[in-house]
Amino acid sequence: MPDPGPGQFLSRGYQGAVFLRGSGADQRVVKQAMGGRLARRLRVAMLRREHAAYARVTGIRGIPRCYGLQDDGSLVLEYLPGEAYRETVPALRDHRERFFLELRDQILALHAAGVAHADLKRRGNILISADGDPILLDFGSAVLRKPGGGWWNRLLFHQACRMDLNAWVKLKYRRQYELLAPEDRQYYQPTAVEGLARVVRRVWRKLSGRRLRKAWRLKRRQRRQREGQLPPP
Ligand SMILES: Nc1ncnc2c1ncn2[C@@H]1O[C@H](COP(=O)(O)OP(=O)(O)O)[C@@H](O)[C@H]1O
Ligand SMILES: [Mg+2]
Repeated sequence: MPDPGPGQFLSRGYQGAVFLRGSGADQRVVKQAMGGRLARRLRVAMLRREHAAYARVTGIRGIPRCYGLQDDGSLVLEYLPGEAYRETVPALRDHRERFFLELRDQILALHAAGVAHADLKRRGNILISADGDPILLDFGSAVLRKPGGGWWNRLLFHQACRMDLNAWVKLKYRRQYELLAPEDRQYYQPTAVEGLARVVRRVWRKLSGRRLRKAWRLKRRQRRQREGQLPPP
């Protein structure tokens, strides 16, 4: 596919640079591998895998159409404008319930097509359209179910599907897992790695909280001693 020409820089990520090129109906997003020889080869391979994932999920609502790979290995996609996922985006606040239903259905449709996204925890990979609809991007880390694939592929795919739905639960409930509605419990099954990360995060929060409280008490005591409200040590 011919390069539609120079365009507007959108982002630079771990797969390279993303540009918006062309105008009107010809507007396209081009993901271009960058870096030295080895890094570039690796990124081109990731873009090839991303292309294979897009080929399977074409037609699912809120996922950009894929126009193929260019000769230099760049991936060409439909431009779907939106804001990176953030709690404070007004379109999300106004349509929260619908947004999460649509996002869940998108994820389930991906899985049915044999694609697990596996990187939904990165906020820039979920956009919110002006109408409050979810847009899913970046299939660079996707796990594809291979027909006739062995137990390893099945296991990886299954784990990645769980990670996708866990990410959905995390965003929907803002990490307040105790609020999980009975109908959503089926979607939350932390993998061993996620479970461990959660424990580490909790312990760290507790420890740093304790340290902060201790420092605050010490400062208060010193202030009172300075002001003569307490006897000196
Ligand atoms: N098809 C697209 N439509 C609109 N914006 C896009 C599209 N593809 C990428 N972007 C923008 O570029 C950013 C990076 O793209 P992404 O595919 O996540 O690349 P990376 O692999 O570098 O993270 C996204 O967060 C989004 O803002
Ligand atoms: Mg990304």
